[in-house]
Amino acid sequence: MRQITTLLAKTKIDYSWSFSDKTRKDTTYITHGYHRYPAKFIPQIVSRLAEKYTREGDSIVDPFGGCGTTLVESKVMGRPSIAIDINPVAVLITKILCKI
Ligand SMILES: C[S@@+](CC[C@H](N)C(=O)[O-])C[C@H]1O[C@@H](n2cnc3c(N)ncnc32)[C@H](O)[C@@H]1O
Repeated sequence: MRQITTLLAKTKIDYSWSFSDKTRKDTTYITHGYHRYPAKFIPQIVSRLAEKYTREGDSIVDPFGGCGTTLVESKVMGRPSIAIDINPVAVLITKILCKI
């Protein structure tokens, strides 16, 4: 535990990942504000990760897809994507949003 604390103390924090300047309006564009869901991603996190680690046409997988934030952002960015979720309500919401 102490080693982890030491390691974290040495880790430089990149505050550009905080998105603390984003308002509700910023995070609910296109379909992202259609419904609430617990611990939903801020769409800007998904788009930034996709921008950083993928190229157009690369596939993206979200194994805990929730209400489909990753799938919607992937579609906007031209990345094919799939999601898995144990919650049938989440799956239903995602299927609907991806048809819009
Ligand atoms: C924090 S939510 C994800 C929210 C998502 N990032 C979004 O923006 O909508 C985590 C999701 O993981 C799902 N989950 C939890 N355990 C799972 C499992 N064993 N297999 C598949 N999905 C699971 C939950 O149903 C929940 O929808």
